[in-house]
Amino acid sequence: MKNIDSFTHVRGESLFVDDLMIRQDALFGLCFDSPKAHGKIISVDYTKAEALEGVEKIFTYKDVLGENQIGGIIPDEPLWAENEVHFWGQPIAFIVAKTEAIAKKARALITIKIEELPVITTAKEAKEKGSFINAPRSFSLGNTSDTFKDCKYVLEGETFSNGQEHLYIETQGCYVIPQENGSIKIISSTQGPTQVQKTAAKVLGIPMHKIEVDVIRLGGGFGGKEDQATPWAVMAAVAVQYLNKPVKFVLNRHDDLRMTGKRHPYSSFFKIGLTKDLKIKAFEAEFLQNSGAAADLSPAIAERTLFHATNSYFIPNVKTTVYSCKTNLPPNTAFRGFGGPQGMFVIESAIAKAADKIGVDKKEIQEANLLNENDEFSYGQIATEVQAKKSWFSAKEKFELEKLEKEIEDFNKENQLYKKGISLMPITFGISFTNTPMNHARALIHIYQDGSVGVSTGAVEMGQSVNTKMLQVAQDILGISADKVKLETTNTTRVANTSPSAASSTADLNGKAVEMACNSLIERLTKVAAKMLSSDEKNIHFKDNFVFIDTKKSSLSWEILITQAMLERIALSENAHYATPIIDFDKSKEKGHPFAYHVYGTAITTVTLDCLRGNYEIDSVKIVHDFGKSMNLGIDIGQVEGALAQGIGWMTLEEIAYNKDGRLLSNALSTYKVPDVFSSPKTIVTIPLETDGNEMAIQKSKAVGEPPLMYGIGAYFAIQHAVKAFNPNYKLKFHAPFTPEKVLMSLYEK
Ligand code: MTE
Ligand code: HPA
Ligand code: MOS
Repeated sequence: MKNIDSFTHVRGESLFVDDLMIRQDALFGLCFDSPKAHGKIISVDYTKAEALEGVEKIFTYKDVLGENQIGGIIPDEPLWAENEVHFWGQPIAFIVAKTEAIAKKARALITIKIEELPVITTAKEAKEKGSFINAPRSFSLGNTSDTFKDCKYVLEGETFSNGQEHLYIETQGCYVIPQENGSIKIISSTQGPTQVQKTAAKVLGIPMHKIEVDVIRLGGGFGGKEDQATPWAVMAAVAVQYLNKPVKFVLNRHDDLRMTGKRHPYSSFFKIGLTKDLKIKAFEAEFLQNSGAAADLSPAIAERTLFHATNSYFIPNVKTTVYSCKTNLPPNTAFRGFGGPQGMFVIESAIAKAADKIGVDKKEIQEANLLNENDEFSYGQIATEVQAKKSWFSAKEKFELEKLEKEIEDFNKENQLYKKGISLMPITFGISFTNTPMNHARALIHIYQDGSVGVSTGAVEMGQSVNTKMLQVAQDILGISADKVKLETTNTTRVANTSPSAASSTADLNGKAVEMACNSLIERLTKVAAKMLSSDEKNIHFKDNFVFIDTKKSSLSWEILITQAMLERIALSENAHYATPIIDFDKSKEKGHPFAYHVYGTAITTVTLDCLRGNYEIDSVKIVHDFGKSMNLGIDIGQVEGALAQGIGWMTLEEIAYNKDGRLLSNALSTYKVPDVFSSPKTIVTIPLETDGNEMAIQKSKAVGEPPLMYGIGAYFAIQHAVKAFNPNYKLKFHAPFTPEKVLMSLYEK
């Protein structure tokens, strides 16, 4: 089945916030933000701006009737700055005017005096100065310090991975409309409608039932709208509460880039110990997460770094610690992989360094340490249905690794100024929100009396095609054709108390709820059908818009059955609630079983390096991926390819730059390079691994949104391999992204 949005997407007919027809009296919002990264606000002069014709009102923290607080995990982030600013781009005021152009003009008329304070932009500096978001977290298994003594090889090193801009095509935005009696409707481009509702209620000082949040779809989220769609919606809601007129607020790209957080940069240190036969016996890592100026989701992201610090390897002695370092950058936030990629880059770097020192291929160490059934992760979960080795060996075999390596060797012998490199990248990614209480979802299904069906869930469609998967689930269970099922917008009055669409778990959680609701409806309809056909209930089945008795199609159509059910006053609506079973995690011990299951896979990446210029091309990425039993392979392979491109971008091209004053330098697409058709791999092959899937995956079709991003890490090491082929003196460095500039320096390093 094709993505159900593809038709309207291609014709430009799909609706996004900015496409909505707005009321004639609607006003437009624009944020005035801090022009300094840290300081005391001495004064702000709004008089000229307020006097401008067409400016309705300028809102500040003084206009908040509830609490001026939007922090989700830790209440450490004001909606609008009060007396201090902590990052360049921090919202200070919200201008509401008759047009966007007037609001922009007004913004230029605001003057501000700030007494500047010292600025911290790096995690290392923050750690030295003791500037943290919260207490550090550590996971441990076995005993590392004793084990290092017995290791033949012990290596230490340092890594850095930079941030990453989400670059959703649709920027952040909302349209907020006053309703009766102080109620407010918010149409938002958010992954977390409940988070918007809850935060707006808190800031406005009204109960949640007075706020309805509706999400049509997102032009991409990638984690950037899990938490950070909230402030804009809340600002507009404050204005609507006061003005009683609709307010539209869509950020332009410059404002979005400057004011929103990104993937967290990490500075990390590792120590790895191996035996003479290349078994990793001990691994220690210290992760310094650059959290930015407020917590946002940083503590949860830090936690996932620890969960994925050993990637696909079994290491019996592990000690990992993560510090969420408070700096004067915009609060960094969720980004596909959610701290997992940052953790996995470090273990891969440690293995690369060990291989280099020992004088073996990186893959020898990787292969010698892949997870086995019943191995224990450092957080206590026992690995089951493990596909680490299966995906590894089937990638090697299916893609003829030996032949590939021979070709590369020959090429490198024959060419002086071009070198090729290769790497293998296994991945293991845990599925579930690491915060156990978030793993639940609901669905509300209406069968209308003409037999058509409306499906509401808490799932937000952001391009990952979750709506198509929800439709497939409903259609399969009800036994009706796709044209009879409609996916409704995501709306907090229909499905309440939702977790954000995130953690790759949206289809699993919401799909299970759809499954439960449809099964309940079928149970009722089975009784009606059995009576109508004078048949035994256990022989009744629903298929192809008809009722079947065993395998034989009856004359009873879905429509006639629904008409009869109506007459018999049978409930044709159902609400279901699903909560993931089995999972738990005890934070006081840092042990438990946090994940419903894991996703596995292996990628082989080959690159060609131009050794005069430092440019490289990714020739191919060949992947064996564990989809379980994919319910929609077209969509799932699309997710693999998109995530891979994003992972490669993070590892090779995308270079976020702030100056020492905390100003974003890479503030436009002219200074921030994202993967395009030229830098994408020339060949991408994705082969599904033959597996049984997992019961907790929807229709045994495993979550796919985030895991493949980490195949992109392979690009870093393939380039490194090629650099080394040209310059044997090159000392391995682990400083991503590996931009052509850095490659060039490495090629000629003495
Ligand atoms: N794919 C598209 N096209 N657009 C997106 O914004 N977000 C990714 C991934 N794939 C995203 C995407 C992220 S960060 C997550 S967590 C998952 O989709 C969320 O959706 P799922 O839980 O349905 O996989
Ligand atoms: N993944 C993604 N988003 C989240 C998580 C997680 O584990 N926990 C809270 N938000
Ligand atoms: Mo995805 S980073 O969990 O929104």
